[in-house]
Amino acid sequence: MTLRLLGTGHCVPAAAVPNAEFAKTLDTTDEWIVRRTGIRERRLCRDETLLDLALGAAGDALEQAAESGHGTYSLKGTDPDSGMLPPDTRGGTLPPDAVIVSSSTLEYHFPPLACQIGTALGLNGPFCMDVGATCSGFVYALDIAAHYINAGSAGTVLVVAAEKLSPLVDFTDRATCILFGDGAAAAVVTKGDKPYTSYLACAADPDRSLYARTGEKMVMNGSGVYKFAVATAPGAIEAVLRKAGLGLGDIDWFILHQANIRIIESIVSRCGIDPDKVPITLDLYANPSSVTIPLTLDLMRQDGRLLPGQRVLTLGFGAGLTYGASIFEI
Ligand code: UT7
Repeated sequence: MTLRLLGTGHCVPAAAVPNAEFAKTLDTTDEWIVRRTGIRERRLCRDETLLDLALGAAGDALEQAAESGHGTYSLKGTDPDSGMLPPDTRGGTLPPDAVIVSSSTLEYHFPPLACQIGTALGLNGPFCMDVGATCSGFVYALDIAAHYINAGSAGTVLVVAAEKLSPLVDFTDRATCILFGDGAAAAVVTKGDKPYTSYLACAADPDRSLYARTGEKMVMNGSGVYKFAVATAPGAIEAVLRKAGLGLGDIDWFILHQANIRIIESIVSRCGIDPDKVPITLDLYANPSSVTIPLTLDLMRQDGRLLPGQRVLTLGFGAGLTYGASIFEI
């Protein structure tokens, strides 16, 4: 299989909430949170809806893909009568043939967030679906996109990760509320000439380490999730590298799910990864679940670190217990 990234984007809530805010009402300190998690602040929704965030990220990714010369996508390109994009705008690789959304924190049972995004963007035709695979969700959604693309069922796919964890967080529980954030990030992908490889899996979790029942707050066994992540991630990295016929030295960037700096440091040390190849974004954005990986990709693209030709390995893990890794080139 092959995959090519045409554009990325992200959108986070305006409110940046520093650790000190939690210390006002809870028995915690900025020092404890930074030392045990690496997190300094997170973005939390005040007025923003999940759709607002998703649209911001999707619009940016589509515009960037179009600007890079891969289509004639325009947010204002639809025919006002039919809602369809006129035939003469269907050049290049845009608009997308599919919208695939990763979210485990939906505000609506239905319609799918992917359909809401498609409608709001004026798209009328692409197939749209939501995927729920918790913090691994972007890796899973990208993998579904890669399979449709390589099967010839879609030319270009808009993949969006959008999460609003704040309504599910118990802000009186110091062990969970400090960890999570809200946000969205997106990627536009199409067939490329460089290989794409993935390895997806799910570990049985009879004791439910991390869950949220409908209408209730999340419940987490933090040390259980921690142990799962550090025990499982090295094997997933090794498996995807072996499948791709590559070694650690062939990877330019290891984009690891941003849950806790100590989890990342443990994975890096167990695998023997060069820490300089592991970007950290949890300090400013905490853990917005499946958004962390595409958010990191987009921030790196914006600051110039992510360059064409570089090979990226992504690794996600989360409630389920889902995990997965993929390798592709920029
Ligand atoms: O996407 C996946 C989502 N989930 C995760 O990533 C969770 C992974 N787990 C973790 O990140 C860590 O396990 C936590 C940050 C949740 C907890 O850190 P820890 O170093 O594993 O602490 P611990 O659970 O072993 O607790 C040690 C102490 C406890 O106090 P006692 O019982 O020893 O008196 C906790 O109550 O730290 C206490 N504690 C805190 N103290 C100050 C827990 N949270 C806080 C806090 N401030 N915010």
